[in-house]
Amino acid sequence: MKISVIGAGYVGLTTAACLAQIGHDVFCGESDLEKLTKLQNGVMPLFEPNLEDVIKAGRKAGRLHFGSTEDAIAWGDAIFICVGTPPLANGDADLSAIEGVARSIARHASGYRLVIEKSTVPVQTGAQLQRHLAAHSRNGLSYDVASNPEFLREGSSVEDFLHPDRIVIGVDSPRAENLLRQIYEPIIHQSFSCPVHTSCPSRKNPIFLATDTNSAELIKHASNSFLAMKISFINMVANLCEVVGADVTKVAQGMGLDPRIGPSFLNPGIGFGGFCFPKDVQAFIRIAEKSRCDFSLLREVEKINQRRVEHFVEKVRKELWVVRGKKIAVWGLAFKPNTDDVRFAPSIALMKALLDEGASVRAYDPEAMEKAKSVLPNITFCSDPYDAAEGADAVLIVTEWDEFRQTDWKRLRSIVDQPLVIDGRNVFSPEGISRNGFRYISIGRVDALPSQPPADEKIDAALALAGNTASEVVA
Ligand SMILES: NC(=O)c1ccc[n+]([C@@H]2O[C@H](COP(=O)([O-])OP(=O)(O)OC[C@H]3O[C@@H](n4cnc5c(N)ncnc54)[C@H](O)[C@@H]3O)[C@@H](O)[C@H]2O)c1
Repeated sequence: MKISVIGAGYVGLTTAACLAQIGHDVFCGESDLEKLTKLQNGVMPLFEPNLEDVIKAGRKAGRLHFGSTEDAIAWGDAIFICVGTPPLANGDADLSAIEGVARSIARHASGYRLVIEKSTVPVQTGAQLQRHLAAHSRNGLSYDVASNPEFLREGSSVEDFLHPDRIVIGVDSPRAENLLRQIYEPIIHQSFSCPVHTSCPSRKNPIFLATDTNSAELIKHASNSFLAMKISFINMVANLCEVVGADVTKVAQGMGLDPRIGPSFLNPGIGFGGFCFPKDVQAFIRIAEKSRCDFSLLREVEKINQRRVEHFVEKVRKELWVVRGKKIAVWGLAFKPNTDDVRFAPSIALMKALLDEGASVRAYDPEAMEKAKSVLPNITFCSDPYDAAEGADAVLIVTEWDEFRQTDWKRLRSIVDQPLVIDGRNVFSPEGISRNGFRYISIGRVDALPSQPPADEKIDAALALAGNTASEVVA
């Protein structure tokens, strides 16, 4: 089928590339000319594992094109809207990009169009879109509007798109439902050739849930808010553990063994960030407010999250006594590993707090430094974790990149000023680090004092808590 995708960000690019991969003819429209030129020249504007290869394959097969929004609108019978919906100052989702696309569709479409909201939007946006399209439609063209919320996670977007556990659509007409079923057919039956795995980890067919548009829109906001609530919940449990001397890792493990609770999203840390959870929780609060529903539970979720960075900075203060003039190494800037996205990343608030207190910060992130440079002008960006740690009074772990799990502790010990690691993501086992001569402070666990470093060298990778990742902290 000929399909258009509007917006070439994390969601739009993944959607366009994966729809081409499963056999559709896709035209992706992007209004940012710099980004568009990069894409047309085969240059990736963002980092996302596997995405570059899928885009290359789609272009080579002649099934993936990039161009203007107008050309995209003229192309497909189905149009996926994947533009940003950032928060306004009052927490509402800013829908101006969505409205702009609707205006263009009304102006440039030349026949029936199925307009699909993939961007995360407040409930009843579909109804507004329908009204807007009808009001501005030329030549009496007809439209269907559908909701198709996206659940992919940055860092594994291609895999998540191609092997989802569910596909949710909100439709108000059989025609819209049939078209969406046709579009997703190869994914529903997992019958495409997978660009990521030779043998896919889960060939289970996803559940295809068709509902009304309002419910589909609510499913996305309710899901993200629920996951955010789980994170804030375990973060409060971590605070309690710190006071009473319990271990939050064990508590989370014990809780997660209950299938009604489940183990995911029970990793405490420095708080959730990214372009989804913070803004989606805010938007959901506003939706409830405007509907006169008292959802103050979510206000607490947000407040707890906002206090996480301050809680972490308090640990830094407690260890360093005076922060002014101290050299601090920050490992990780992206809001989670395997992405270069720093939007609403806890690292930004953390950096500001440390700089305000007079520390000098040397930071390293495997992928996010380019994007961080524009938002964090007063820190030194380093070539690797050791470069960042040179002469440091403390090493702070802010994003749980795998690279940090391979730390050569002997080397690190020889270059830092003070052997102190403060870990905002509980990447390591306290015993492992302290045996390497470091004082180790983490989240919701007892602080570990340095013990005698071993005669040799590189900590065994097994000391790192393999698999204990907070990467799921954001969708
Ligand atoms: N990032 C995620 O992990 C994720 C996951 C699920 C859902 N979402 C939702 O998907 C939406 C997009 O998120 P994202 O992270 O991809 O955003 P993004 O900022 O990375 O991408 C949006 C793109 O749309 C482009 N754009 C804006 N107006 C346009 C127009 N009129 N024509 C063409 N292009 C236009 C922008 O230039 C930008 O490149 C948001 O609503 C977000 O909440 C994001």
